[in-house]
Amino acid sequence: MSSHPRRLGRLQPGLLAPRFGAPLLARAGSRFTVESIEAPEPAAAPVEAALLSAADAQHFPLSVLTTTSTKMEQGLCLVKRVVCAPDAPPDGYDLRLRRAGGEPELAPRSVWLRKEAPTTPGALQLAHLTDLHVGSRGRAGDRLLHVIAEINAREPDLVIITGDVANNGDRAHHYPNAVRILSTLRAPSLIVAGNHDHGFSPRAIAGLGFGPGWYHFADAFHSFLHFGLQLGGWDFIGFDSGPSRLAPLVGTRGLDADALAALSRDLDAAHARGSRGVVLFSHTPVRSRLTGSRPSARRGAVAGMARGTRAFEELLRRAARRGQRVIHLAGHTHWMEVFELDAEGQRFMRWDHRRIGPDAQTITTPVALINTQSASHSGIPIKRTGLGYGFVRLLLDAADPQIHFHRYASLPPRS
Ligand SMILES: [Fe+2]
Repeated sequence: MSSHPRRLGRLQPGLLAPRFGAPLLARAGSRFTVESIEAPEPAAAPVEAALLSAADAQHFPLSVLTTTSTKMEQGLCLVKRVVCAPDAPPDGYDLRLRRAGGEPELAPRSVWLRKEAPTTPGALQLAHLTDLHVGSRGRAGDRLLHVIAEINAREPDLVIITGDVANNGDRAHHYPNAVRILSTLRAPSLIVAGNHDHGFSPRAIAGLGFGPGWYHFADAFHSFLHFGLQLGGWDFIGFDSGPSRLAPLVGTRGLDADALAALSRDLDAAHARGSRGVVLFSHTPVRSRLTGSRPSARRGAVAGMARGTRAFEELLRRAARRGQRVIHLAGHTHWMEVFELDAEGQRFMRWDHRRIGPDAQTITTPVALINTQSASHSGIPIKRTGLGYGFVRLLLDAADPQIHFHRYASLPPRS
């Protein structure tokens, strides 16, 4: 995990991890760590911590086993509490923390207890949705609810949401709506911000720093620009691809040297651990073509990142050379596209668009890039794979990954 919440350079006290969108997965009955940024307290100050079952409003007190505190700037501390809820059964929970005399803090859908340890290898089903644009007009909200119902019916192990959660992050009221809607997902959700979440303030667009959009996102979800978890023998790493930039193309600022170094370390660590593969996810795709529909190795000029694109692809080529499986999930363009690294490990070839249909497809090479259409909006009319709305499902096990495209032309009739 990296990054702490700051407003104009000042640290923001509050619950840091786990949070909605950067959840904690643990075996039921095991210990786990809760992190928060706090003003120093007497060591014996009591803390009430509990897990609240989202399904039936049951309440499980957390025992605090150890507390460690590290001084930060501005007179604040990073406090880590090792906790345990011995009686809580496998389920998804809201975390509630209340320090003596303070208001309770709630992290919805942030703790997911499982029968097995998350690191136990097993078959995984993953749902990927993106570009929700909560707060936009029309039937977008109904389409998103339809997608969530379709995802819940398939009982995935994990849901990945690659940004543009809010239509305009500068408007704080979009986020409580997004939290309410996404709380109906019955699986742990990993969420990264998109350029719409970062908002369109001059500060964000001109690259002067984070604007109000990112703070609103961090209040509702989490403040991590780079984070991850392990599940079923796979590694899942989310990273921020930045706000919009001042440019005629729909690009974002992209990855700086620190972000690329962190991704490189993650890929190396997963490889050294013998991980089955790594799923990377971020908002902006590293390549996307507006024209044509046939296989092509051309990068395309739309929707790229201003920096870090080529270095990111080089990390993927390096992974492929050592036989490491890596899948990158993105959105942003509002159309479906898949690229696979060719057998020589050099060129990223776009799939023929006819493969993006009702039949499941197999990813046979080590590295694939998957761009998913919006879960709530039709894309531009000339891209057939962006018409309607939808999501993607991935089946990950010991064999080659399978990808299912779930696409809907229009809302089902009301029952
Ligand atoms: Fe979008």
